[in-house]
Amino acid sequence: MAIKKIAVLTTGGDAPGMNAAIRSVTRYAIYKKLQVAGVSQGWWGLINDEIKLMDRRSVSGIINQGGTVLKTSRCLEFRTVKGMKMAYQVVKANSIDALVVIGGNGSFTAAHRLYNKYKVPCIGIPASIDNDVNGIDVTIGSDTAVNTALNAIDNIRDTATSMERIFVVEVMGRDSGYIALTVALGGGCEAAIIPERKYNLNSICSDIVKGNLQGKLSWIIVVAEGAGSAVDIAKKIRKITGLDSRAVVLGHVQRGGRPTAFSRDLALRLGQAAVDALLSGQIDKAVGLCGNKISTVSFATAIKKKKIKIEHWYDLIKILT
Ligand code: F6P
Repeated sequence: MAIKKIAVLTTGGDAPGMNAAIRSVTRYAIYKKLQVAGVSQGWWGLINDEIKLMDRRSVSGIINQGGTVLKTSRCLEFRTVKGMKMAYQVVKANSIDALVVIGGNGSFTAAHRLYNKYKVPCIGIPASIDNDVNGIDVTIGSDTAVNTALNAIDNIRDTATSMERIFVVEVMGRDSGYIALTVALGGGCEAAIIPERKYNLNSICSDIVKGNLQGKLSWIIVVAEGAGSAVDIAKKIRKITGLDSRAVVLGHVQRGGRPTAFSRDLALRLGQAAVDALLSGQIDKAVGLCGNKISTVSFATAIKKKKIKIEHWYDLIKILT
C-alpha cells in the first residue's frame, strides 16, 4: 500500500533529542510529499483522537529543547484489548497509513502488538535515556543523560574531596547498568553497583577502609537504580565502616536538558531513516545505529533484554581507581 499520510508520536519516558527526531520526521516526510500528523501524549492520544496535522513550521524552534513537544505518557489503557481497538479505529478514521513511534523498548512492544493485531504499519525510532534497546548501539537521549549525570558527579567530587567523605550516587536506567557504568568510568568513581552483576558490599567497605589507611579519603560509588537504593547503601556503608557516607539520588534531572550534539545528530539522522524505511516497505522494525551504521532491527529483536558487555567497563573502573 502506498503511504500518503503518517502520524508521529512519542511514548514512554521522554528523552532529550525526541524533539529533534520529531522535527526530522516531519520535515523529511513533507519533503517526500507525505502528510504528517502529530499525536499528542503517546498511545493515550491515539486512543483519544488527539491528532493534528503538522507543517514545517509546527516543528520550528524545537531542535535544541529537551522533553517532547508532542508530550508523552505511560498508557495502561493501550495494553487492553479495548484500548488497542480504539486506537486502531482512530488510525483508520484519520486515514493514517503508518505510525512513527519514538520511544524505548516499552513503546516498541506496544507498536509490535498493534502491528500483529491490526497490521498497522509501524516503524520505531529508539529514544530512551536507558540505552536498553536490544540490537541498537545507542538510543537518542542516553548521551545527554550520561553527560548530565557526569556533570553532577564532577560537582559531587569537589565536595567529596574537600570534606573527605564517601558519596553513593544513584542514577537512573531502570534495569540497565549502562548509565551507571559510563558515568562511573568517566567520573573516575571508585565502584559501580549495577543490576547485571552481583556486588559484595563488605568487599567494597573493606576497600574503603584499606584505602583510608593509605590516605584515600574520598570515594564516589555509583549505583544504578535497578541494583539498589543509594540511601540504603550509604546507611550500610556508614554502619560497616563507621565513616561519613552520604547519598545523592540524581533522579529525573537526568531526563531533561538540552540534547547534546550527539543526541541531536542521531535523532535527525534516524528521523530521515525512519521515513525512508517506511517508504521502502519496512515495517514492524526500529531504525538505529547498529555497529555504528544506520540500519534496522525487527521489533521482535529490539524488545528482547539487551545484554551490555559490562566486563571491560567494570574491570577498568576498578583498575583505574
Ligand atoms: O525509561 C526512562 C526512565 O527514566 C528510567 O530510567 C526510569 O526507571 C523510569 O523512566 C522512570 O519513569 P517515570 O518517570 O515514569 O517514573
